Amino acid sequence: MIRRLYLEDFRVFAGQEFRFDDGITCIVGPNGSGKTTILEAIEFALFKRVRRKDKDIGKLEELIRHGRRRARVEMEFIAPANGRRYLVKRTINVGSTAAELIDIETGETIEDTVKRVNNEIVRLLGTDRDGFAALAYVRQGDISILSRLPPRKKRSTLRDMMGLGIYDDTTKNLKSRTRLLEKKLSLISQTRQTLEEVRRHLPSGTTLDTALQALETLRGQGTDGAALEVLKTLIDQIRESVRTVEEKLASEELSVQPRLIEKEKTLAARLQTVLDEIPKVAEEQLKPRIRAEARELFLNIFGDKYSDLTIDDDYDIRLFDVGGHPVKLSKASGGEDVCVNFALRVAVNTALQKEAQAGNTEMLQPLGLLILDEPGAGLDSQRRRWLPEAISSLDSVKQVIVVTHMEELRDAGNVVITLQPQGYDRPPRVIVQE
Ligand SMILES: Nc1ncnc2c1ncn2[C@@H]1O[C@H](COP(=O)(O)OP(=O)(O)OP(=O)(O)O)[C@@H](O)[C@H]1O
Ligand SMILES: [Mg+2]
Repeated sequence: MIRRLYLEDFRVFAGQEFRFDDGITCIVGPNGSGKTTILEAIEFALFKRVRRKDKDIGKLEELIRHGRRRARVEMEFIAPANGRRYLVKRTINVGSTAAELIDIETGETIEDTVKRVNNEIVRLLGTDRDGFAALAYVRQGDISILSRLPPRKKRSTLRDMMGLGIYDDTTKNLKSRTRLLEKKLSLISQTRQTLEEVRRHLPSGTTLDTALQALETLRGQGTDGAALEVLKTLIDQIRESVRTVEEKLASEELSVQPRLIEKEKTLAARLQTVLDEIPKVAEEQLKPRIRAEARELFLNIFGDKYSDLTIDDDYDIRLFDVGGHPVKLSKASGGEDVCVNFALRVAVNTALQKEAQAGNTEMLQPLGLLILDEPGAGLDSQRRRWLPEAISSLDSVKQVIVVTHMEELRDAGNVVITLQPQGYDRPPRVIVQE
């Protein structure tokens, strides 16, 4: 889904374009050559924020190349939501950022404020930054984080990965809308009660007519005209008050609106049952696929030591050694942990992609992107040998970007981008091999 990335004075890069295609792209280079920086630029282009080593970068100025005053990133991507091509442009100045989103097909700028660009990109991707990070972007040193999360957080992260977090957000919005409607309704009902109370204390129309007739009789009997005028004015004023109260009671606000609000409340309740149901169905559909994929991948690497990997309904993962004994994940080695997590992430991606290929795209939209930063970290040389094969087998994910300093991973890529450091204060040389 990422097509072109242009970096200008972004960290170590001065002015550099990268082109990405579907398939596997490997970015290879020694420590400090700028590999992670390319991924940070992708994250920045999409979400305006960058996370490095467990923390968000507070001051985006840090991203501006030393000695420069402005950094710029441009990225072309295909939106999973509609298959259209977009260009996002972002600029970082000291103390401020700017953003623009362009529909490449029409050439039109569709959003030009940071906030609106951010919101529109989340809509186009079908996921926010957390979902993107969980599903598509495995940060350097971050791969094992999934299995170490507490159960509830793990479940919500996995739901984010499956693109189901969006239903939770919608539920939250719907609930607050319903609360607002209830408040409005109770306010209307209070006003109604007060007005009805006032109306009860006011005389009826006939009583006022009778009073007026009595007044005319008094006039006929020669009572003082001025005094009678005062009484008549009073009766008229009361009649006017009655009219105002009755009009208010019959007004649209007090008679029609409550019915409309009730209707909207009913609709919200029905929508809620659908919203509860969709992710449940989707999750149940995906689970068996995820289990099978993760198991297969893991046993490919550790088949000599383990005979099974199971994932229960709460996403609790268990390993069984070749003797059939269960092994808690917390007891597994660092390298085994990496592999389980690698397998799980890939499994979710593959499961989503396969669901999509089977035509079940209404509920789930695969991003079709997987970014891995140093996936081999923590693996010994024997297991590492398996990695190129594991990565080559990721053909169910449309686009895979692998960052590594492992030379042996080169062969896994359809395209290899090599970064060669050129010394202090000089951007790396970029060599592309197809
Ligand atoms: N604002 C900046 N201006 C210039 N250079 C910067 C800036 N910020 C960071 N750098 C440098 O950019 C270099 C590239 O960092 P990056 O994290 O992308 O390397 P990497 O290739 O991922 O390395 P590793 O293999 O160690 O993970 C680092 O040497 C860092 O010092
Ligand atoms: Mg790095």
